[in-house]
Amino acid sequence: MDPKQETQDVFAGFCSRFKSFATEAIHVGQEPEQWTSMAVVPPISLSTTFKQQAPGNHAGFEYSRSGNPTRNCLEKAVAALDGAKYCLALASGLAATVTITHMLRSGDGIVCMDDVYGGTNRYFQRIANEFGLEVSFADCTKPELVKAALKPNTKLVWIETPTNPTMKVVDIRACSDLIHEHNKDIVVVVDNTFMSAYFQRPLALGADICMYSATKYMNGHSDVVMGLVSTNRDDLNERLRFLQNALGGVPSPFDCFLVNRGLKTLHLRMERHFKNAMGAAKFLEADPRVERVIFPGLPSHPQHEVMKKQCTGCPGMITFYIKGTLKHASAFLSNLKIFAIAESLGGYESLAEHPAIMTHASVPEKERCLLGISDTLIRLSVGLEDEADIIEDLKQALAAAHPMKN
Ligand SMILES: Cc1ncc(COP(=O)(O)O)c(C=O)c1O
Repeated sequence: MDPKQETQDVFAGFCSRFKSFATEAIHVGQEPEQWTSMAVVPPISLSTTFKQQAPGNHAGFEYSRSGNPTRNCLEKAVAALDGAKYCLALASGLAATVTITHMLRSGDGIVCMDDVYGGTNRYFQRIANEFGLEVSFADCTKPELVKAALKPNTKLVWIETPTNPTMKVVDIRACSDLIHEHNKDIVVVVDNTFMSAYFQRPLALGADICMYSATKYMNGHSDVVMGLVSTNRDDLNERLRFLQNALGGVPSPFDCFLVNRGLKTLHLRMERHFKNAMGAAKFLEADPRVERVIFPGLPSHPQHEVMKKQCTGCPGMITFYIKGTLKHASAFLSNLKIFAIAESLGGYESLAEHPAIMTHASVPEKERCLLGISDTLIRLSVGLEDEADIIEDLKQALAAAHPMKN
């Protein structure tokens, strides 16, 4: 098949791509005119402090925690890609979560999607709760459950879509409208880590804040830990910018340089992630050794239509249940050759992991059972290798896990 045709088929039925995405990723915030050297690639500005002409009379930068030229380039580029007025870079995805949560006061309530990244769950349950915030969890794919969870003290709703690892998809527009109709002051946050700015724009769908673990697709090269927060609201930006400096969880200029560079190929990477993941998901779904595949790009996904309505494509994340027991899941993972058994996701390389033992071990066992994070659940982050090699690797690892059913 003509490769162009193949790519088009994968995207059939999804929203059209965001206008000028690639051009903005490559040019916004990168203007050579901002440097006296006219550097085309933004320099890594390592200086921690900046000379002032007179006390208080400076060129926009005072101290590198409150503002840094390399970080500035990155923040401008990400704001453009999110369709946002503002973006802030933080030292990690969790630092972004903590910074956002610090907008609240003791006694305030948070409603969090029931299935979220294990570290988000751990922060809300074991730290935020201890500091007097009242955190409850709800399945935000069901509007009636979101409605029931909203209380007079609710100040923030935390949505992750698709969720990590069970890939539940929340209708961001419907959920944000419902929450804002209940109380327009509730801040709706969407963790957009799995989607990247290329596949989903939560702010255009009614969310107040879009956040990322940029460690994943936004950087895409598995060599930086970083968080990003975008918003269109002046009041939220003002508060978040204060907190970025006051709490101090900022990324290094070198990391800002790397993520800024990663963004230049985000559109190309995401398209290939989708194409490779679709091939892998179809292969797994047809294999008798696989119990169930959860990939929002497949019509078998319960919220496939929501995905098509609000996204421009699907990332390389696939979750599946292998038939058998923990023994079979372990054998499958241990026999992979191209996929590395490793936490994290969204890099150019394929990774596989066991959520119950690895990324979601911090989620209490009872909750893991309720969410379906069982011993046979496997999460794949499909990378950018050749599709045929990825499928061949899955095939031989399945055969090794289930030798009798080959
Ligand atoms: C969906 C999601 N959100 C947030 C985080 C936390 O980000 P970081 O590891 O950059 O702190 C992760 C990390 O795996 C994640 O997968």
